[in-house]
Amino acid sequence: MKNIAILCSGGDVSGMNPALKHFVEYSLQRGLTPYFVYDGYEGLIDNNIFKAGYEDVSGIIIRGGTKIGSARSKRFMQSEYRTIAKKNLDAHAIDMLIVLGGDGSFRGLHAFYQEHKIKFCGIPSTIDNDINGTDYCLGVDTALNIIKISIDSIRDTASSFRRAFVIETMGRDCGYLALVSSLTSGAELCLIPEVSYDLSVHEQQFKEQIKNGRRYFIAVVSEGIKDESQTIADWFEDKIGIESRVSVLGHIQRGGNPTIYDRLMAYKFVNHAINALMNGKEESIVCYAKSGFELRSIEEVVSKRKELDPELLSCLANV
Ligand code: F6P
Repeated sequence: MKNIAILCSGGDVSGMNPALKHFVEYSLQRGLTPYFVYDGYEGLIDNNIFKAGYEDVSGIIIRGGTKIGSARSKRFMQSEYRTIAKKNLDAHAIDMLIVLGGDGSFRGLHAFYQEHKIKFCGIPSTIDNDINGTDYCLGVDTALNIIKISIDSIRDTASSFRRAFVIETMGRDCGYLALVSSLTSGAELCLIPEVSYDLSVHEQQFKEQIKNGRRYFIAVVSEGIKDESQTIADWFEDKIGIESRVSVLGHIQRGGNPTIYDRLMAYKFVNHAINALMNGKEESIVCYAKSGFELRSIEEVVSKRKELDPELLSCLANV
């Protein structure tokens, strides 16, 4: 029997647990022995590696986060620790590794591959949806749904009080979550790091709208914009003349019961990852594009910054 391991690295996402469950089930079905590496690359270095079975994954499909833990490992950025990690994998006779993670995790994996030629397959997993080469990263749909519920709730208070709400989403340097949430929640203003803005262009129009009966504003801003959210709220008070509040959604966006879409995508990503490794593909990332699932080289995935969909961006100009 061949041994295969899986680990989660970087920010957790809802969808990792369904992926772990299917990893165990599909590995066993394909005649492989599945292993869990606990706490990301830290677990590879510390030999926190254990055989996994059905009992480890029972009931986890409905839970966000990851049962095997995740970490942002600084040690794995250093070559001496990657050598230890390789020795630990060898000690368990593991020669296939699946990594659920974001671009930072893949950069670490790239270095690991270049030095030790481990056979791996990456599954893009980050709510930021900022990985080049894939249209979808695991966890994005659940995060968007949580943001949707939050904005819908805040709208009730905004309209009751005649207020402007500045709602800050995660995304690091990528505005995807804010952009999609703004479009699908009907926000009046959306600010993202990819597009420069000048608030003064909205002043006349927003004041006019209040005169014509508008009671509230919803502004969705990404955490990566040049200003603090409070600065945008102050602008609403000072220049538009409406009471304002800031709501930073924070880590609630990362957790929660995985949506059907994320459970399904977890299942498909894992199928493609295990199949790729069993078909002899030594290093790849499973990407999801309009044409379906595709394996791309890690070089391609980590070498370029992901561009936002121009169709979505063009809608931004109309907000
Ligand atoms: O990459 C996922 C993410 O949630 C980003 O959107 C955010 O900037 C960051 O992680 C927060 O990281 P941490 O959980 O370490 O505070």
